[in-house]
Amino acid sequence: MKGLILAGGTGSRLRPITHTGPKQLVPVANKPVIQYGIEDLREAGITEIGIVLGDKGREEIQSFLGDGSEFGVNITYIIQGEPLGLAHAAACARDFVGDDDFVMYLGDNIFKRGLTEMVERYETGEYAASIALQHVDTPRQFGIANVDGERTVTELIEKPDEPPTDLALVGVYLFSSAIFDAIDELEPSWRGELEITDAIQSLIEDGHAIDSHVVDGWWKDTGKPEDIIGANRLVLEDIEATNDGEVHPEADLTGRVDIGTGTTIKAGAVIRGPVRLGENVTVGPDSYIGPYTAIGDDSTVGGPHIENSVVVGKSELTADTRLVDCLLGRGANIASADGLLPEGNRLVVGENSNLKL
Ligand code: DAU
Repeated sequence: MKGLILAGGTGSRLRPITHTGPKQLVPVANKPVIQYGIEDLREAGITEIGIVLGDKGREEIQSFLGDGSEFGVNITYIIQGEPLGLAHAAACARDFVGDDDFVMYLGDNIFKRGLTEMVERYETGEYAASIALQHVDTPRQFGIANVDGERTVTELIEKPDEPPTDLALVGVYLFSSAIFDAIDELEPSWRGELEITDAIQSLIEDGHAIDSHVVDGWWKDTGKPEDIIGANRLVLEDIEATNDGEVHPEADLTGRVDIGTGTTIKAGAVIRGPVRLGENVTVGPDSYIGPYTAIGDDSTVGGPHIENSVVVGKSELTADTRLVDCLLGRGANIASADGLLPEGNRLVVGENSNLKL
């Protein structure tokens, strides 16, 4: 079985973070989202992985993943170009997949548990495809499935106005090469895309058996900033305390704090886990880092109270202020304007930024 990770798309809902890089490289608990997908595939025994790339962020993803050897997999890059839909992205990988079965994994999705159980069940049955599902509160925003008592899928609709169930397609699909013939027959949907949901529906109509698997544990589509902060929180729930840095005896640490190499925590700093600090981070005396915060490599925290936040990296946070529920892009600097007149916030804000003061 091969793996296919879709990493095209525009990332428009994550702007301005995605002005300078693809959404699949935004870190959750200091690890780029796409790396979670690679690790899930590897754990399920799948090491031949195709990565579908769009026009945007190609070089960044290629330079991060390389040939895959650093992650224990073998990567082939497939260029989709314009994001014409998930089924179009799959069709671009036809030569790479050949006659093999394959797992298609949406590159901006994260799952608490991996794929192993779903892959094992698929391999023991006679299915043309298998889809991962989860109950959701907002079914109109997803592809929605109807299944019978044997977990066989009877109907699929993409973002329905009147959802027949609350079972959403989440970002993992297992396919036989039969999917390519179904994609060949597709017409673009109302949103102008070739929908994988429609391709699977046509397999059902042609009499193929489609299995389903309701995923255990949480699942996050990290399309929006609040999803990144939410996924960060869920991943940090399970971290272990480790210390590869230097913690001053007069720093006050409680809960699980994961400290990277070269990181220094000075006297008087207060940290309440779960918190993850990357490499070469400095936490100064008057700083408070509260639960569910991840601070990326090469950052300085010298003054603020920060909690439930994601700091991508290379940031200087020196303002004496409170930062909550923040997603701060690489190189973001937040300093105090104390004593400067006229009084007020001094902001340099990128396009499509979102600030609550
Ligand atoms: O997140 C689950 C949902 O994902 C499913 O419930 C829907 O049935 C499915 O259509 C999909 O909906 P989205 O509208 O959220 O998909 P999105 O456009 O965000 O794309 C998902 C990933 O696939 C993302 O990593 C970008 C990549 N992609 C997307 C398109 C449209 C490509 O690589 N190429 C593309 O052409």
